[in-house]
Amino acid sequence: TVEEWPHLYHAGTPATPVLLLLHGTGGTEHDLLPLAERLAPGAGYLSPRGPVQEQGMNRWFRRFGEGQFDVDDVVRRTGELAGFIGWAREHHGLGDRRIIAVGFSNGANIALATALLHPEVLADVVAFSGMYPLGDRTVDADLTGTAVALFNGEADSMAPLASVLQLKSVLDAAGSDVHQTIREGGHGVHPSEVDGAAAWIGSRT
Ligand code: MLT
Repeated sequence: TVEEWPHLYHAGTPATPVLLLLHGTGGTEHDLLPLAERLAPGAGYLSPRGPVQEQGMNRWFRRFGEGQFDVDDVVRRTGELAGFIGWAREHHGLGDRRIIAVGFSNGANIALATALLHPEVLADVVAFSGMYPLGDRTVDADLTGTAVALFNGEADSMAPLASVLQLKSVLDAAGSDVHQTIREGGHGVHPSEVDGAAAWIGSRT
C-alpha cells in the first residue's frame, strides 16, 4: 500500500511549494534532489521511489517495450500515485500547500498521467523529456486550473516529437495552462531547461 512506499520528505519553509520528485527509469528517490535545489532553493520536497520493477530498475508503470506503454497499468499506477499524494498530504501535514510534480522521463510520464486523470490531486507539473502517456486513449477531463511545463528535445527517440505535440494539444483542449519549450537534442535535462523550469515554478508560487 502507499503507506509503505519508501520516500524522502523535507518540509522546507512554509511559504514554499512542495516538489513531488519523480525519477526516471532505473532511478531512486535520491536522484532529483540536486535538481530540486536548483529549481526552488529551500522548497519542500516529497520524493518517492517508483514501485514497479523492470529487470531490477525502478519505474512508475509497466511497459511492453520502449515507448510501448501498458496503458492499463499506467491508469492503475496513476491512481496509486494519486493515493500516495493524498496520504502524504495528510501524513506530513501539508495542509493546502501547493504540490508541484517535477518528473524526468518515466517520472514525467506518470506525473502527466496523474494530472490528466486526477487533476484534483495534482494540478501542477514540470515534465522533462515526457510524452503523451495514455497511448490511444483520450481524456475528457476539465483541466482548467492545472498548469503544465513541458521541456523536450526535438530529437528524442524515447519521447518522440509527435507524442509531445499530441500531449500539448490534449492539454490545451482540456483547458490546462501549458508552457512548452522544445530545444535541440534528445533525452535529458539541459541547463536552459532548469532555468526555464525555475522561472516557471517561481511564477506559480
Ligand atoms: C517510459 O518508459 O516512460 C519512457 O520510455 C521513458 C523511459 O524510458 O523511462
